[in-house]
Amino acid sequence: MTDSHLAIIILAAGQGTRMKSAKPKVLHHLAGVPLVGHVLATAQELDPAHIFAVVRHERDIVSSAITALLPGVVIVDQDEVPGTGRAAEVALHLLPTDFAGDVVVVSGDVPLLDAATLNGLITAHRASAAAATLLSAVLDDATGYGRIVRDAAGSVDRIVEQKDATEEERALTEVNSGTYIFRAGDLRDQLALVGTENASGEKYLTDVVGLLRAAGSDVTAVPVSESWIVEGINDRVQLAEAARRLNRLIVRGWQRAGVTILDPESTWIDLQATIAPDVELLPGTSISGPTVIERGAIIGPDTSLVSCEIGEGATVRRTDATLAVIGANATVGPFAYLRPGTYLGEGGKIGTFVETKNSTIGAGSKVPHLSYIGDTTVGVESNVGAGTITANYDGVNKTKTVVGSHVRTGSHNVFVAPVRIGDGAYTGAGTVVRKDVPAGALAINVAPQRNMVGWVETNRAGTAAATAAAESSAAESA
Ligand code: UD1
Ligand code: CA
Repeated sequence: MTDSHLAIIILAAGQGTRMKSAKPKVLHHLAGVPLVGHVLATAQELDPAHIFAVVRHERDIVSSAITALLPGVVIVDQDEVPGTGRAAEVALHLLPTDFAGDVVVVSGDVPLLDAATLNGLITAHRASAAAATLLSAVLDDATGYGRIVRDAAGSVDRIVEQKDATEEERALTEVNSGTYIFRAGDLRDQLALVGTENASGEKYLTDVVGLLRAAGSDVTAVPVSESWIVEGINDRVQLAEAARRLNRLIVRGWQRAGVTILDPESTWIDLQATIAPDVELLPGTSISGPTVIERGAIIGPDTSLVSCEIGEGATVRRTDATLAVIGANATVGPFAYLRPGTYLGEGGKIGTFVETKNSTIGAGSKVPHLSYIGDTTVGVESNVGAGTITANYDGVNKTKTVVGSHVRTGSHNVFVAPVRIGDGAYTGAGTVVRKDVPAGALAINVAPQRNMVGWVETNRAGTAAATAAAESSAAESA
């Protein structure tokens, strides 16, 4: 049920300088979802009356990404005043003036914060008389974070940012996670008093804590059970650490759901993937995008699937596949490259060193070795010979190859598209198929073989080959 007394503000206006990236920080991915997408999902789980996302840097890109992820979010533009405090303030301006509830503020760059932890914060806050409650964490290395300064009685007194902290304050290990809940009115009143006189020249949200205390209100800090929950992503090192952390959680979740994952460290699974029980994921496998894997399939080792559908009991070994659909009990690889639009029917095979693109290979049909199959349809129960190339591109246009059912094509064929090979037809080894082959015909267009007897001894006299040939004919005539 919607919590009508709750508003959530997501801060996503910062530049993310430390990422050193052309891409806005909050759009960097973690388990296939932008950082801010994780935060939006958590916000949505809390079902508040209002969700605001504050944007500024790369405003259009960030806001359209946010709207695509969660259409109900109100996008708020931060003005030229920098800082997290200003970001919260511009969002507050859009909150109805009669809103008497609580405002949760979260950062768009803290992706692992979960709804249960936030709910704990909200419950603790509402059970206390505090004007604000924040999540804190005790870190071995607090570098970069705002430190929580407590008074002699142990109560939260203020927050000091790294840049503004004294040597003594920097030694403090309890940090501000950047996750807070405020009474809306208090936040509004205190933000109006926050200035920009600090090392960054920014309007800090953290200054509200000290101001509330000075005004006689209480502020409580609730430490999180495990600090990684609130770790912020500011650079690529932290991005990789968070990715590893989240991946472990995802892997564990699938293991508990009945998926065999032999090596969690080298198996990467995106959040959108769906994996049935009794699937086996072998080492070095990454499952990206909304990939679906049905029961009993074996994937890997060293396989990357991006947005694929893998049927029940299929085997996909040492393969790179994107937007491919693999039927039940089909086999793929080792060393296959499946490009978008590949459909392999039930029990079919795409074998070793085979590349496919925009092609349908019917049930029971096989492309076992060393082939390129593009813009092609193969019927059922056909066999495409080793080393077959579909010449689908004439330099200007791409055209289609159609192979019927129960076809047997020879090794080392070229199918020069557009071309059709009828049901039950055969082609000889080395055939360049330029014309349609009628059903049931054998197509062959290689020149008859001519053996020029004695050619080597005459033309390559004195070579090892000539000697071997001479010895062989001597032995034969003896
Ligand atoms: C902030 C906190 C710090 C805390 C840390 C936790 C302040 C002043 N400092 O520092 O106490 O320990 O988070 O991760 O709040 N943003 C805006 N508008 C701005 C600036 C930032 O929306 O003008 C957004 C950013 O996009 C980001 C979030 O606010 O999502 C935090 O900003 P960031 O610059 O990463 O703050 P920290 O230096 O990490
Ligand atoms: Ca940060």
